[in-house]
Amino acid sequence: MGNREMNGNKIWYGGDYNPEQWPEETWQGDLDLLKGAGIDTLTLNVFSWASLQPSEETYDFARLDRIMDLVRKNGFRVILATSTGAHPAWMAKRHPDILRTEFNGMRRKFGGRHNSCPNSPSYRLYAPRLAGKLAERYAGCENLAAWHISNEFGGTCYCENCERAFRAWLREKYGTLEALNRAWDTAFWGHTFYDWDEIVVPNLLSEYLDNERNMFQGIALDYKRFNSDSMLACFQMEYEAVKAFTPDIPVTTNLMGFYKELDYGKWGRFMDIVSWDNYPENEDPPAKIAMAHDLMRGVGGGKPFLLMEQTPSVANWLPYNALKRPGVMRLWSYQAAAHGADSILFFQMKRSVGACEKLHGAVIDHVGNGNTRVYRETAALGEELKRLGGRTLGARTKADAALYFDWDNWWAIDGSAGPSKDLDYLEEFFLYYQALYEENIGVDVIGPQDSFSEYRLVIAPMLYMVKPGLDEKIRQFVSDGGCFAATCFSGMADENDLIVTGGYPGRLRDILGIWVEESDALPEGRENHFTYKGKRYPARLLCDLSHPEGAQALSAYEEDFYAGMPALTVNRFGAGQAFYMGACSGPEFYRHWLSDVCKQCGAAPALPPVEGVEVTERENENGTFLFVLNHNETPALQPLSAPCRDLLGGARYEAGDSAALPAKGVMILERIV
Ligand code: GLA
Ligand code: ZN
Repeated sequence: MGNREMNGNKIWYGGDYNPEQWPEETWQGDLDLLKGAGIDTLTLNVFSWASLQPSEETYDFARLDRIMDLVRKNGFRVILATSTGAHPAWMAKRHPDILRTEFNGMRRKFGGRHNSCPNSPSYRLYAPRLAGKLAERYAGCENLAAWHISNEFGGTCYCENCERAFRAWLREKYGTLEALNRAWDTAFWGHTFYDWDEIVVPNLLSEYLDNERNMFQGIALDYKRFNSDSMLACFQMEYEAVKAFTPDIPVTTNLMGFYKELDYGKWGRFMDIVSWDNYPENEDPPAKIAMAHDLMRGVGGGKPFLLMEQTPSVANWLPYNALKRPGVMRLWSYQAAAHGADSILFFQMKRSVGACEKLHGAVIDHVGNGNTRVYRETAALGEELKRLGGRTLGARTKADAALYFDWDNWWAIDGSAGPSKDLDYLEEFFLYYQALYEENIGVDVIGPQDSFSEYRLVIAPMLYMVKPGLDEKIRQFVSDGGCFAATCFSGMADENDLIVTGGYPGRLRDILGIWVEESDALPEGRENHFTYKGKRYPARLLCDLSHPEGAQALSAYEEDFYAGMPALTVNRFGAGQAFYMGACSGPEFYRHWLSDVCKQCGAAPALPPVEGVEVTERENENGTFLFVLNHNETPALQPLSAPCRDLLGGARYEAGDSAALPAKGVMILERIV
């Protein structure tokens, strides 16, 4: 079977398997059990660097050869990792430059994982070398389906190699020290630099008061960009190394959703396919999980992605590691597919006996047989995925609305001293997402690299930083008839986190048709109020005091010295309109207001909203598919608007029918045309 057929026939099902942790005579038994659960895809070799390279010049692939062989004979597809997520102990001893330095200046010793300095010359020599050797060796394996570079790149290093590399990165970015001094506003507190070597890494020893608060936003922001770029360069080195031998095999690395340290918006452009690890807590609202899937699809340019990891049952690193309740693993697996995943993969296939993951859930538990709830649920889903087949593969997710998300903006908001310690970009972003989610409006999470033209509605919550070109993009979108919404704490800074003078919200001022004079940060528990279409809502956290400059006020503050000033405005701009919500409010208001905005701009729900039932729509050359997910603990009735057939249950429905979903139930409805 060639790669094409292997990849095209059904949703990939499986995950991380670590046979190197087990005696060889147990491998075949494991594979039999996994086959019995309908598993067809194994992620191998994630943490084997120490055994693959026992010393400086020796490489030993004998055991991996045997694993690869056995797995191929048993008919599994392989996602092959390059093993560089944890370096060997001998390497740390012999080449200490590979060790990281912490935020507090502490130099680490060997230990843990995800532990290599991204600017270490040794790491940059040995990691791509190993990746290349693996690619050369296994290039001919017909069941090799994808490369998995390293594992969960992350963290930040503050060592002297990084410091030197940072200076070089800055030189490349700014050209001259004059430009750098301007960009960082070093006239403030007499920070002027006269020599590149005077620049040191911003950490607890220099520009930070504690783990959170930094005193020089420009340098701190650039260091975050630099650290993300440094790790991206490591990914790219391995990418090139494997591509040299296997140009047609897609390359990925497992991302982590809203992970702050790395600018995935930038990373996504360099990955053949995005994959990510989904580890929500049981209490997380389903909308939060949905939002992370949409972000991950977004950084990959909207293409389908891989769900690389999820636990089949339980994690080990939470304060309380509750079990996934019966049916939840299936429900959350389909939720990933509903948002664009073409794989359902687990960490892991077999529960380890030692170290920190001995209590992490797996398909095969310590008891070692298939007689467990988790195995049975995994096998039932495996069976169902076989029946479902490949009809939904490659389908694009439909979205009339987009939410704009940018890591630079996240870093800048978080790094700012003021206006409120409670200001939280992600939380505010989530409230906007949730409002659309609950109305069954398809949402793309987009970023600086994406075009706006295909959307009816673009919302940019807390767009504090407006980078060059973004305001032009918004201006064009709205002029052409698009609907745009911005919020308080927007348009204030440029790409260097320098405030745009001449009136907030800076470059968005003409589009929104307002001037924000001041912002009032309300302490926890304090609220102002405003009324929207007869309902009174809270204004909390931050209230912008603004003056319309062409915009029409839709609602005004009701208390305090700024009572009567607009809380919500809309500005007609060209053929479109631009809304401005001057305060933070709560879920009820956002849902009320945004459902009106969606109606006005023609962003239509996939199906009529039912409380606790999630609906998304994907489309490919086979047809249109509605994923309907009942997150409730009770059955639900979903009204339907067109004839369709449930690919999982087989039932057929006419327009006007309502479909009954059991608690935690799922349907994949194919439209009948
Ligand atoms: C991460 C890692 C895996 C494993 C799981 C456990 O996602 O990639 O190696 O440690 O966490 O939840
Ligand atoms: Zn370093």
